[in-house]
Amino acid sequence: MIVHEAIEIRRSYRAIEPIEVSDDLIEDLAYHASLAPSCYNNQPWRFVFVRSREKLERIYNALSPGNSWAKNSSLIIAVYSKREYDCIICDREYYLFDTGISVGFMILRATELGLVAHVIAGYNPEVVKEELNLPEDINLIALIIVGRHSERLIKDLPPPQREREEKRPPRKSLNEIAKIMRIEKNGGMFIHAG
Ligand SMILES: Cc1cc2nc3c(=O)[nH]c(=O)nc-3n(C[C@H](O)[C@H](O)[C@H](O)COP(=O)(O)O)c2cc1C
Repeated sequence: MIVHEAIEIRRSYRAIEPIEVSDDLIEDLAYHASLAPSCYNNQPWRFVFVRSREKLERIYNALSPGNSWAKNSSLIIAVYSKREYDCIICDREYYLFDTGISVGFMILRATELGLVAHVIAGYNPEVVKEELNLPEDINLIALIIVGRHSERLIKDLPPPQREREEKRPPRKSLNEIAKIMRIEKNGGMFIHAG
């Protein structure tokens, strides 16, 4: 099992070129996303795979200016869900959490296949919903831009994006994001020490 390789190699590259999008590829990505865990196995994630040139062009028009790089893609996956599709426990709504896990699985599978799967939030959701005939009341959570990384196209990106292409954006230190909870026995009591 070499999951860590896909995790380490994955990057949200912007210098991408189009790929051949077969039915097999779409099924493969959807299948791996479908294996994700979810609250009560509710599987709240929904995907629309867009590969027709005409539809892609229309979705390109809905992208934020900073996402012009995505116009080189030949596959865009719309990710949507609805709070009612999944557990709501007290005030915790799990649909976004579970859909995110599923997208994570899909991205890692795409990475394993040598592809770039770059999640974006910068688009006009109303325009995309209309183009894809999605109901008004769903939450269009993200688009996934799929292509192949192209060293040749890096020079066409604006300077800040070019820099991020060459070096992985920095991460917070592990101390900032994770605490080790030590459980120590003390006279029959368990103490959680941060
Ligand atoms: C929910 C979400 C929204 C994002 N939106 C955009 C976006 O609109 N445009 C973009 O270029 N990158 C977008 N990104 C990519 C992030 O900028 C990127 O994941 C982050 O800088 C870390 O870089 P890495 O993925 O290469 O490690 C988004 C990522 C996520 C998960």
